Amino acid sequence: MKIIITGGSGRLGKDLHRTFGVKHEVLAPSHTEFDITNPSQVIGYVDFHQPDILIHSAAMADADVCQLNPAQAYLVNTLATQNLAIACRKRQTTMVFISTDYVFDGLKGNPYTEFDATNPINIYGQSKLAAEQILKETLERYFIIRTAWLFGIYGNNFLTGVIHAADMGTQIRAAFDQKGSPTSTLDLSMALLHLVDTPFYGVYNVVNRGGLTWYEYARLILSISGKQAHVEPIRKEERGPSPRPANTTLEPMCLDLRGIFRMPDITEAIEVCISELKQK
Ligand SMILES: NC(=O)c1ccc[n+]([C@@H]2O[C@H](COP(=O)([O-])OP(=O)(O)OC[C@H]3O[C@@H](n4cnc5c(N)ncnc54)[C@H](OP(=O)(O)O)[C@@H]3O)[C@@H](O)[C@H]2O)c1
Repeated sequence: MKIIITGGSGRLGKDLHRTFGVKHEVLAPSHTEFDITNPSQVIGYVDFHQPDILIHSAAMADADVCQLNPAQAYLVNTLATQNLAIACRKRQTTMVFISTDYVFDGLKGNPYTEFDATNPINIYGQSKLAAEQILKETLERYFIIRTAWLFGIYGNNFLTGVIHAADMGTQIRAAFDQKGSPTSTLDLSMALLHLVDTPFYGVYNVVNRGGLTWYEYARLILSISGKQAHVEPIRKEERGPSPRPANTTLEPMCLDLRGIFRMPDITEAIEVCISELKQK
């Protein structure tokens, strides 16, 4: 199949590219070649290449930046997603949209399934939820993928930040009052590779198993990598200006119920990532 990936230069985009590239023809245009906020460029590109699937990973993915620039957040995360959905509808292209755990308010107390009600508490979550709604209104063939706290071998992320700080002897600060589902970009890409071969369109939680606070996550990374460092517990309000939901742990219920792909446990996912980083 022919696949277009938006945000191909991003942390997830690079893992999507290597994973889908093994089996499919992949186009991952650069931001300048394919600015998702430019409707005519988007429709022209999709019309010309006629992909079977478009995986939309590009976003303004920093919650604090979104909170400080709401208009830009809605432009990039919501309206640009509509540009892509319109282009996909015209060409009967299946669209995969990467969404977030931040569509939830974090107050449930247990892991969220795909069947729980959404209620975002920050601009990032609101802009992504509005984009989800647009997909549902515009397309018949779509996958909405809710994922969280991404780590992998490409770019900077919390896992590489903890390892770097331990190596440098610099301070690690991690919230003890925010819990979620750290997820490997490689496992997420593998799950999508299996999912797009099915006709079971809809919403999916795609996360590694096992909820952790940022503090617990930092300690686990240090323990698996065999490094020593002091982790200072902080409150989530100290992370930045965006409000952050207290517990957005997700359960990959629909992947499990359909038997599409079993997401590995978080410990195993971190072990694989650290081992890949050592070989890089
Ligand atoms: N990171 C997380 O923890 C996390 C958690 C939950 C969900 N997600 C979602 O997962 C997806 C991937 O996240 P990520 O962390 O891999 O993101 P990232 O590393 O910040 O990459 C974002 C990508 O989007 C591209 N982009 C931004 N604006 C664009 C535009 N107007 N036109 C075309 N491309 C544009 C960037 O290209 P340039 O760099 O060239 O501008 C970059 O390739 C996003 O949809 C994000 O919302 C991420």
